[in-house]
Amino acid sequence: MVKAYINDNKDRFLAELFEWLKIPSVSADSRHKGDVRKAAEFVKEKLVAAGVNKAELCETKGHPIVYAEKIVNPSLPTVLVYGHYDVQPADPLNLWTSPPFEPVIKDDKIYARGACDDKGQVYMHVKAFEIMMKNNLVPCNIKFMIEGEEEVGSDNLGTFVKENKAKLKADVILISDTALISLEHPSITTGLRGLSYMEVEVTGPNRDLHSGVYGGAVANPINALCSMIASLHDENGKVTVEGFYDKVAELSAAEREALNRAPFNLSNYKKDLDINEIKGENGYSTLERTGVRPTLDVNGIWGGYTGEGAKTVLPSKAHAKISMRLVPNQVSAEITELFTKHFQKIAPPYVKVKVMAHHGGEPAVTPTNSTAFKAASKAFEEVWGKTPIPTRDGGSIPIVALFKQELGLDTVLMGFGLDSDAIHSPNEHFGVKNFLIGIETIVAFYKHFAK
Ligand code: BES
Ligand code: MN
Ligand code: MN
Repeated sequence: MVKAYINDNKDRFLAELFEWLKIPSVSADSRHKGDVRKAAEFVKEKLVAAGVNKAELCETKGHPIVYAEKIVNPSLPTVLVYGHYDVQPADPLNLWTSPPFEPVIKDDKIYARGACDDKGQVYMHVKAFEIMMKNNLVPCNIKFMIEGEEEVGSDNLGTFVKENKAKLKADVILISDTALISLEHPSITTGLRGLSYMEVEVTGPNRDLHSGVYGGAVANPINALCSMIASLHDENGKVTVEGFYDKVAELSAAEREALNRAPFNLSNYKKDLDINEIKGENGYSTLERTGVRPTLDVNGIWGGYTGEGAKTVLPSKAHAKISMRLVPNQVSAEITELFTKHFQKIAPPYVKVKVMAHHGGEPAVTPTNSTAFKAASKAFEEVWGKTPIPTRDGGSIPIVALFKQELGLDTVLMGFGLDSDAIHSPNEHFGVKNFLIGIETIVAFYKHFAK
């Protein structure tokens, strides 16, 4: 019945999703403030059309939060579905093979910014809900909280959660904003990394100088920044920030073995990325490096002359954005502090440095023995004919730790993307198959959860 409904309505499902994807809800860009709101209104209206008994835009200091609920019986358990309707900026635009906000299907994949992260995955929940409503299959209470600031740190959502604990009362959080191992190997994410995001500024002379007149005699802040950054990893691929690993939870041999049992093909991995070799912390596998080890990466670096042609200049300033991915039991604020101290300490005397913190978030690990996790597992078994493999994802959804802390709720991370979907990159896409089978799996989740 569910499969048939999906099959009969799939063109409409996709057409609706396309309409949503056309709205450039880039939360980081204030020029898109109106579009972000439009995207919120859109999903609110679709939830209303699907049959929720209450739906509202909750205003925040930033972008609105969409809240909706279907209470079938207060004595039944409640699932709180979380997702985000904001998207990453689309640039560099010239690398897209079709415009980011003009969705198209190529090779059975939906190409558009937000196709996978996270509009496409949120829309699976809206349609799963529609199916359950139309077929009298809603087996428990369902609440939806779809925010518009996930890609910029969810600051206002944190406040909203703290101030609306009664409204958000539920038994479990359900999120589709992560990836599967592959369509052949379904998986459920059981861990996410945390984040500390920093920005540094290195200043040399008080103004840009002629690089011939002064070069060789005055320190170049870009050269200095490069040396400082280079020193942030040692020859074993370890981060050199003092105290960085102090709180890192080491996995037991059995846990490592289990994690490494997940299918992973190194040569396909390298081929997909066009790299000759992988590189990371010595002594750990790729799955461990992205799943359970903390990292430090430069996200952007700038300064001096980068325009057309050549300009001989010894710049006054150099900048970089540096992020650290965190694992249990690291604490974002502590790592931010350790980094700040370390970066100031390694600054050579001939430059001045400023260190600023952007957003952060805590790592999260979800239980695998809960009713909800078992229901998700059974849903995959029913729809995919395979038991899903638990995996640790490298990305971050900081609100997951906050849900646990503020609401005491565990999360089930039932994501349907693929690592190769190019989220945050040009040509983001989402498999039509992933979208449709995701809807079916979500309906199956509710069935098993309410049993
Ligand atoms: N959906 C991603 C996180 C993700 C992606 C988790 C793939 C697991 C697998 C989310 O939208 C995201 O991009 N989060 C940011 C963090 C945020 C604080 C900006 C991230 O991970 O960089
Ligand atoms: Mn996301
Ligand atoms: Mn994202």
